[in-house]
Amino acid sequence: MNIIEVKSYDKMSEKACALILDQLKESDKSVLGLATGSTPEGMYQRLIEQFNAGNVSFKNATTFNLDEYVGLAADDPNSYKYYMNDKLFNHIDLPAERAFVPRGDAANLEQECRDYEKRIAEAGYVDLQVLGLGLNGHIGFNEPGTPLNSRTHVVDLDESTRHANSRFFATMDDVPSQALTMGIGTIMESRQIVMLVSGEKKAEAVRQLVNGKVTSEMPASVLQNHENVTLIGDTEALSKL
Ligand code: GLP
Repeated sequence: MNIIEVKSYDKMSEKACALILDQLKESDKSVLGLATGSTPEGMYQRLIEQFNAGNVSFKNATTFNLDEYVGLAADDPNSYKYYMNDKLFNHIDLPAERAFVPRGDAANLEQECRDYEKRIAEAGYVDLQVLGLGLNGHIGFNEPGTPLNSRTHVVDLDESTRHANSRFFATMDDVPSQALTMGIGTIMESRQIVMLVSGEKKAEAVRQLVNGKVTSEMPASVLQNHENVTLIGDTEALSKL
């Protein structure tokens, strides 16, 4: 695993943006895997700046997001589709029909999971997957105990995850109890993985990710088995290594 220590959240965002630009330089038809949460927001801002400066175009790219809450439609401000539109898609030239997010309001969720896998395969699989890290070691919404070979599926969210994400919702009751997520096996098929971590509260999860044993109880530990992972973290997040 390639570990890059940076001094600040801003530097982490800058470095992550640079890796995405490198990928798009290699092929403007790249397939990017995208994440939500607070961590990648700075990276998205920088990508928009680079787009506005004329340094990058997304018009031939395809993106697949990791996950979505069950029951939330695209126009719900708490849905990950809304987040992506707001933080990135509305500000760049990525064609809407190639900006994929699992549909949390699909009538048949199992079918939506199968279709999502099919779309990823048809696009030629993910070239560069951006990941954040849950406090309990989840990647996407793959909670502890998820089989390491899992594909896109419906998950019951851990209470700890609902609690961590409740900051975005009006009340705890509004936080969905289920989500759709790319599986760990799906994520591991990406050619390159860029994991972003920031802040002291992630330090213990980062320690287990890098130095712990590979176990489904700590989903992110599986990244030790991937041959092209770059972990970009600020000093606080890497403080337990
Ligand atoms: C959320 C998302 C993950 C994200 C993680 C960390 O539950 N499903 O994709 O990486 O938690 O979020 P944050 O970056 O806000 O700490």
